[in-house]
Amino acid sequence: MSASDPARPTVLVAGATGFLGASFVRELAATGHRVIALGRDASRVRRRFGDLSVEARSGDVTRPESLRDAFQGVETVVHCVQFSGFPVEDPSRGLTFMEVDGQGTRNLVDAARAAGVQRLVYLSGVGADPSSNRMWYRAKALAEESIRDSGIGYTIIRPSWVYGPEDRSLNLFIRALRLNPLCFPQIGDGAQRLNPLYVEDLAAVVAEVVETGAAAGETFELGGPVTYTLDEIIRITMDVSALRRPIAHLPVPLVKIAASLAELLPGQLLSRDAVDFLLQSAVADNSRFHMLFQRPLAPMPDALHAYASRR
Ligand SMILES: NC(=O)c1ccc[n+]([C@@H]2O[C@H](COP(=O)([O-])OP(=O)(O)OC[C@H]3O[C@@H](n4cnc5c(N)ncnc54)[C@H](OP(=O)(O)O)[C@@H]3O)[C@@H](O)[C@H]2O)c1
Repeated sequence: MSASDPARPTVLVAGATGFLGASFVRELAATGHRVIALGRDASRVRRRFGDLSVEARSGDVTRPESLRDAFQGVETVVHCVQFSGFPVEDPSRGLTFMEVDGQGTRNLVDAARAAGVQRLVYLSGVGADPSSNRMWYRAKALAEESIRDSGIGYTIIRPSWVYGPEDRSLNLFIRALRLNPLCFPQIGDGAQRLNPLYVEDLAAVVAEVVETGAAAGETFELGGPVTYTLDEIIRITMDVSALRRPIAHLPVPLVKIAASLAELLPGQLLSRDAVDFLLQSAVADNSRFHMLFQRPLAPMPDALHAYASRR
């Protein structure tokens, strides 16, 4: 159990049980901050961080009344909430980009302002754009606008695709490689381009922002140092995990037919929009980041080796 330093600012991580949030909680706790972890269910938050001296609180960004006491005594909020089932929306349960990223951020900002929070660090995403024809980019842009208009000090980070020991996507690839010795099925041609960002690099940047107030009033993109196609990422993963398979590219129209059938079933198995989401490129332009921070970023093969070899 790590002890927090009472002289450090109290920081609340919203979305603490998620992939990014949990890594931020651990990094901030390790650097001596007093950390409060927020999720929809405080007992689940407590179970997740039982090994750390982290306070658990509950709050649902889609229910403003649940946020009334969530931010009391908090100086900085790191906001990394994402709807369950992402990227497959379920409008019947309010699990959509607009409800959670968009309106949810507005609710969070209102509650944070009322509680006297001084700083917001928001995890947006590459491509946020109010005029995009994709609702996920519009929702992120709406969230960013709420943060900028909040009257509270802020830093907005737009990560590309993030990977790490607890991610869902790369670990899913590795599970799929283990399960299928014949081939790796891939939606589309695998030509979309990404510069994958190691989660520990992102967590270190967030901790620096919280600690030093770096990048105040800034919005910057952040990705890994090298851009790959998705096929290249799969091949790197195969090399590191010593699970080499041919890649079988599934035609997008066929996958869309399957997705439209899945939309008729209960649960959030797949949707046509989610297929589009998965097919897009996400390349962060790191130029502003390098002007603001003096930090190296791990190349993907090195970072993958480092944590895969710890398993
Ligand atoms: N992961 C990436 O590669 C990546 C890349 C670019 C941008 N981002 C952005 O970074 C943020 C975090 O992503 P992630 O991958 O860490 O997401 P994640 O693993 O899906 O975690 C989502 C978190 O949000 C919480 N949550 C869900 N609905 C909520 C609600 N209504 N009210 C309060 N909390 C709620 C969940 O907690 P409970 O279920 O315990 O309530 C969970 O802790 C997102 O905004 C995402 O767009 C992520």
